[in-house]
Order: sequence, then C-alpha cells, then structure tokens
Amino acid sequence: MDTLRSLEEIFVKFSKPRIFRARELLLPDYVPEDLPHREKQILKLGSLLAPAMAGSRPSNIFIYGLPGTGKTAVTKYVLRKMLEKAGDRIQATYVNCRQNNTNYSVLFEICTQLGEKVPFTGLSLAELFKRMRRKIDSKASLVIVVLDEVDHLVKKNGDDLLYYLTRINLDLTRAKVSVIGVTNDLKFMEYLDARVKSSLCEEEIVFPPYTYEELEDILKKRAEQALNPGSYTEEAIRLCAAIAARQKGDCRLALDILLKAADLAELEGAPRIEENHVSRAYKELEKDVVVDLVKTMPLHAKLVLLSIIHLTKEKPKIIITGDVYRKYKDLCKKIGLDALTQRRVSDILSDLDTVGLISTKIVSLGRYGRTKRIKIAASEKAILEGIKEDPTVSTLLPFP
Ligand SMILES: Nc1ncnc2c1ncn2[C@@H]1O[C@H](COP(=O)(O)OP(=O)(O)OP(=O)(O)O)[C@@H](O)[C@H]1O
Ligand SMILES: [Mg+2]
Repeated sequence: MDTLRSLEEIFVKFSKPRIFRARELLLPDYVPEDLPHREKQILKLGSLLAPAMAGSRPSNIFIYGLPGTGKTAVTKYVLRKMLEKAGDRIQATYVNCRQNNTNYSVLFEICTQLGEKVPFTGLSLAELFKRMRRKIDSKASLVIVVLDEVDHLVKKNGDDLLYYLTRINLDLTRAKVSVIGVTNDLKFMEYLDARVKSSLCEEEIVFPPYTYEELEDILKKRAEQALNPGSYTEEAIRLCAAIAARQKGDCRLALDILLKAADLAELEGAPRIEENHVSRAYKELEKDVVVDLVKTMPLHAKLVLLSIIHLTKEKPKIIITGDVYRKYKDLCKKIGLDALTQRRVSDILSDLDTVGLISTKIVSLGRYGRTKRIKIAASEKAILEGIKEDPTVSTLLPFP
C-alpha cells in the first residue's frame, strides 16, 4: 500500500510540475532553435552546403570534435534550415552509425529515408547499393548523406562503404551526392585508406570544446526555455557548467546533470534547483556510467576487477600485480574457468586503468625489479552493481 501511495505521489508531482515548464526541451535529442557559441561552425557548414541551392554539388565534409561539442545539433540544425528553403531540390538522409553499425543497416536507412522500400535483411550489399543508386538517380536532385558517429561503422566494417559512397557520383547521370562524415574520435583518420581520406575530407570543420563561460551561457538559455522562472538558482547552473567544463567542455553532460537535478528537485517538491541537487545528480550519473561500463566488459576483466576488490578488503595496504593474479586464479578455479596468462591479466589491468576504473602506479621493489601498485578508482558499490548483472561472476558474490 505504501509503495502505491508513494508512486501516486510521484505521478501527482510530475503532473503539476513546479520546476519544469517544458521538460522535453532538455532531452538529449531535442535540437534547440538557438545554438549559441556555434555561429562560426553553423555559418561554415551553411556556406559549404550552399552551392546545393543552385544544384551544384557541395564538397564532401568531415566534421570532428570531442563529445558533446554540438556536432550533431549543428548538422541537424543547418540541414533543417536548408531543407526549409530548398523545397524538393535537395534531399537529406541522416544515419547514426553507432545505432546502425553494419554496411547493410546504413544502406537500409538511406534507402528507407529516400522512400525506397527494401527488406530489412536478405539482399546482397551490391544489390542494396544498386537500388539506392537507382533511387537517388531517379530525379535530378542533390542528396546529402550524413553519417554521424561514422567511426563506429568504419571500425567494425572497414571503409569500403565510405569509398563507394564518395565515388558514387561517377555513376550518377542526373543526381549528385555529397557526404558529411561526423566523428568524435580524433584518431579516426588513421582507420581510413588514403583515397577515402582525401575524398571524404574535401572540407573539414572542427568543433572545439566549450569553455566554462560558454557552457554557462548555453545552460542559462536552455534553462529559460525548459524551466519555470525562479525554479533554479544561478549557482546551480554555474555548478553544472563547471563540472562539464572540467570534463572537456561536454555540453551533453552539462544538460544531463541539469535535467537530473531538475528531476530530483521536482521529486522532492523543492521550490527550486539548488547546488545540492546538482552535486547529487552528478554523483548518480557518474555511478550509472560505471555500472554500464562494468556491465559491458569481458568476463575476465570483471574477474580481475573483483579480485582487486577482494584484495582491498583482505589487505588494504598495498596491492601489486602478483597479488591480483593469484586472487584472480583463485576466483577462476572457484567457478571452473581456465585462467588467462599473467601477461594477459597485465593487459587487462592497463585497460582498466585507461577507462578509469582503477589507478596504477609503477613502484620499485628494490632488487626484485618493478611492479604496479593498484587501487580501485571508481565507486566500489557501482562496480559491484555492474558485476552483479553477470550470471557467471555473480556466483562469487556476495563477499565473505
Ligand atoms: N551551442 C549549443 N546550444 C545549445 N545546446 C547545445 C549546444 N551545443 C550542444 N548542445 C546540446 O548539447 C547536447 C550535445 O550536443 P551534440 O549531440 O550536438 O554533441 P556532439 O558533438 O554530436 O557529441 P557526440 O560526439 O558525443 O555525438 C545536445 O543535447 C545539444 O542539443
Ligand atoms: Mg553527436
């Protein structure tokens, strides 16, 4: 009964929101009408695409910058504005290659968005490509193909599809195609063949990270649209901006924190969002990130993590690689698994360090050489929560 009452209270609170004016305006996919501090990128993309308005093919464009720097928002915004002006002389397709990370699904998306009906599976790639080309060339229009998060496609399937897409104009008689590739992987270029690189990157646009002041300004404007006047303090907004500025100027993080803080305040019936809502929101988000990260790790990496947590409890002073390996072998034995070699476990430790779940420091053991000193660097509770989801490793829980 108590649960039901609490549940109903939650619904009532959100049905007459105090904090939110239009909560959906803070959701990640919403593209605002106003994108401050991206004027330069908007105008550059606009000018590069503008020849399309007169039927001439714009250069292929490569857009890159760190996560949350507005690449997707700006691209969608400029295309939307352009299509509003161009009528049906220009068509645009937008594919997110993280969600559609096979050559087939990318081609399927492009065909579908152009109105060509193709089966979800079953055709050969060559046939699918042919149908797409025929559809594109069925009228004298200009087609802009956006491949967002394109690194995901290329890492998984190589750059063949990009190669054919950037060369498709050679086989078109009426229509023309321009490709826009977007990525936050600054090393992405290394995956590309030189020929693909030069044709995709006829033009480049860089998105620098937002500064603290820019984030504060952006958040203020977004808050004005989505939240009621007086329902948040300036300090709360500034704290969101400060946290995101420290995390490489990531505007998505800033907005995620603000949304979560607003939810917390709404749920508590607080009159306004204060700094404490923001700090708690950030902690929760950080925890979610760790849980997700651990959940998606390979089995043996989870076992190595669990070994370290075990050791932290058993002898909290100093943990070195050898200790971890012994404990890891124990755990493998307990659940009937073959242990990996110490060399492989050492690689796993480096990976765990890279993603920030542990921290390691090289220490000297005098005449015994050097080893790594290892510490857990994220919330132990969150790590265990992630591990709990794994049916094999979870049999080792809870701790003695
Ligand atoms: N200048 C801005 N003004 C208002 N909102 C912005 C601005 N820049 C980014 N945003 C918002 O921040 C969030 C992240 O932006 P976006 O998705 O465009 O980042 P991205 O560069 O594509 O990141 P990723 O590389 O992770 O895909 C979105 O919700 C977007 O609406
Ligand atoms: Mg994006």
